[in-house]
Amino acid sequence: MPPIRVCLAGATGWAGSELARAIARTSDVAIVSAVSRTHADRRLGDVIGEPRLTGVIQASAVEALTIPCDVFVEYTKPDSAKRHVLAALDHGVHVVVGTSGLTDGDFAEIDTVARKVTRGVLAAGNFALTAVLLQRFAEAAAKLIPQWEIIDYAHDDKMDAPSGTARELAARLARIQTSGPTVPIDNTIGSREARGATIASSQVHSVRLPGYVISLEALFGMPDQRLTIRHDAGSSARPYVDGALLAIRKVSTLVGLHRGLDAVLDS
Ligand SMILES: NC(=O)c1ccc[n+]([C@@H]2O[C@H](COP(=O)([O-])OP(=O)(O)OC[C@H]3O[C@@H](n4cnc5c(N)ncnc54)[C@H](OP(=O)(O)O)[C@@H]3O)[C@@H](O)[C@H]2O)c1
Repeated sequence: MPPIRVCLAGATGWAGSELARAIARTSDVAIVSAVSRTHADRRLGDVIGEPRLTGVIQASAVEALTIPCDVFVEYTKPDSAKRHVLAALDHGVHVVVGTSGLTDGDFAEIDTVARKVTRGVLAAGNFALTAVLLQRFAEAAAKLIPQWEIIDYAHDDKMDAPSGTARELAARLARIQTSGPTVPIDNTIGSREARGATIASSQVHSVRLPGYVISLEALFGMPDQRLTIRHDAGSSARPYVDGALLAIRKVSTLVGLHRGLDAVLDS
């Protein structure tokens, strides 16, 4: 089987360069084109320290897409992501989206185009396998345990709260059932804020402190017993590589937009 030919947008970034170095170590996936505005016309391997990546970086996704590929990987910024994804679909290639920050409206538009050209788009805000498993295990727990809360831990300079992964978890659990606290939040005596933010019926608490990287906890409580499911990521982009590679290998089995790595986890 020839390798899956990948066009990697954001190949010089924190997440994209880690993925590029991992692809250089695989035999079934190959980078045929890469995008970065500031490093255009340089060899990707020279920029990210991987001599096996000999391809020349293109200044834009449109230029990179003139080189035939099977899968376009989007790892740039929210303001360019949708444009890149639509350009890739226009070239008839499948798309993996790692970039966060696209809106539901963006995804609806992408889905319409992807179905029209019968190509797959797999978008996941967090490719870390242990984060994906936390979501799955928490969904299983929420079917049986009607009360839970979510804690999201991150480094002190993370500006947004709660994290996208915590929001996604709350939304997924809300589709199973509504978490109802024994004392309604509005009846809290003292400081209501101490009970966290109510996101899709889950109470979500965000900790932002030096010394933390990225962690997520789903806490489930029943009379005289409790269950904690926790994901921890370190400070490198390594946790996101295996999930992104799985998405690249499987996206061609999909048609239309699919959100979350679950779409291909068991296939
Ligand atoms: N799904 C996941 O598991 C996961 C994991 C980590 C990060 N992310 C998300 O992935 C995205 C990238 O994160 P990062 O930390 O890797 O960012 P980063 O280090 O700033 O890298 C961004 C990359 O995109 C390129 N880029 C930016 N704007 C561009 C444009 N308009 N056209 C072409 N290339 C452009 C940059 O190169 P130039 O500036 O030279 O163009 C660079 O190569 C973010 O949305 C982040 O939240 C997702």
